[in-house]
Amino acid sequence: MVPAQNSPTIEQRLALGKPLFWLNPAYSQTAPEPQLQDIEDAAARLQRCAPLLVRLFPELAHSQGLIESPLLPVPALQQALAVPGTLLLKADHDLPIAGSVKARGGFHEVLCHAESLALAAGILHSTDDDYQKLAGPEARTLFAQHLLGVASTGNLGLSIGVIGAALGFDTCVHMSSDAKEWKKQRLRNFGVRVIEHASDYSAAVARGRAETQANPRGYFVDDENSPRLFYGYAVAALRLRDQLAKARIPVDAEHPLMVYIPCGVGGAPGGICFGLKQVFGAAVHCFFAEPAQAPCVLLGVQDPSTPSVYDIGLNCQTEADGLAVGLASEWVCSRIRSQLAGVYTVSDDSLYRDLYRLQASEQIAIEPSAAAGIQGPARLFSEGTDYLRSQGLESLSGQSTQLIWTTGGRLVPDAEYKNFLERGKIASNEMLTD
Ligand SMILES: Cc1ncc(COP(=O)(O)O)c(C=O)c1O
Repeated sequence: MVPAQNSPTIEQRLALGKPLFWLNPAYSQTAPEPQLQDIEDAAARLQRCAPLLVRLFPELAHSQGLIESPLLPVPALQQALAVPGTLLLKADHDLPIAGSVKARGGFHEVLCHAESLALAAGILHSTDDDYQKLAGPEARTLFAQHLLGVASTGNLGLSIGVIGAALGFDTCVHMSSDAKEWKKQRLRNFGVRVIEHASDYSAAVARGRAETQANPRGYFVDDENSPRLFYGYAVAALRLRDQLAKARIPVDAEHPLMVYIPCGVGGAPGGICFGLKQVFGAAVHCFFAEPAQAPCVLLGVQDPSTPSVYDIGLNCQTEADGLAVGLASEWVCSRIRSQLAGVYTVSDDSLYRDLYRLQASEQIAIEPSAAAGIQGPARLFSEGTDYLRSQGLESLSGQSTQLIWTTGGRLVPDAEYKNFLERGKIASNEMLTD
């Protein structure tokens, strides 16, 4: 066969910085080997820490200490998007306390660390002990002697900072240049030290990691390389399974579930994808959404040497602060390489347009990064039809569930949100007249 010499490579197409839809050639149609144990362990840890969380954050009393978001029907948005099947929102924009998808993983990792320190110090005698002891004076004195570090584009820092400070850790968040001012200020108000870096996320991680690990009592929450974060994020899949069952929405070969998740370094969407494939196997199809200037996970999944977006000539500049990552987590990419169905990339203007569209149709407020999932279904049914055909899904769209993961926004100050909406209104009008 003569090779198609003139067809551009995926790197060449990405380098144009224009939105595209990529199907993962390494995607496996068969369900992965069962590996649920680590996810169930993380879920059990969050469960045994639930009374502790109620004590630290009394607003969690109504959910008995579980940090979970609702699964929402969005009929007006569905009409606006003209999407087949049943359109749902997994409303992580509304997650209590931390206000984003980074909450489950972030809280899980800090609770893991606190638990092992307290077990080693004899404050907890076993994992059956009363975890409210972790909010007591003895534990606080212990935690105050330990440095907890993390690097973030904003929302992971909010998650780690809030739980770290509530437990009494000496908590330090290294913020990349993309992080929004209000996120830094909010952390400072909680007594968290915020170190601002003029560099991008990957460089902030390297600095934060080195500085934290130089302290003998330092513990670094490493978003590029953390099973504890990953399995904490993956707990969302178990919770979603229960929510779908409660709503009597089937997921099986006849009723496929398509999921669209905004993606930065890959940890949160990767953990969710991994968890969903464990729970639903071949019946679930996960697509990630990345900024056109920062498609690092697309690059990392398709090439195990994990090139950065700079390597192919992109600049990583985007208003989607949570997704402004130039280099993917190779650890995450290796776990989802055959499980991720595809990635579509988005322009900043389309994020504001969709943020505005969600407000106009459903009166739901989110942040720009969290809007990247919204165009997923329409993009799949227009640019991803090869996928539907190859997976035998074409005739099943009417009975499919289309799930958009809205990943952050609850804590956005009103004035900021107003600016987002104004920009979204302009972007909508411009896109209509294009
Ligand atoms: C709102 C929002 N959505 C999605 C993500 C992506 O998560 P990850 O960086 O783990 O891929 C982030 C990351 O901070 C975020 O803040």
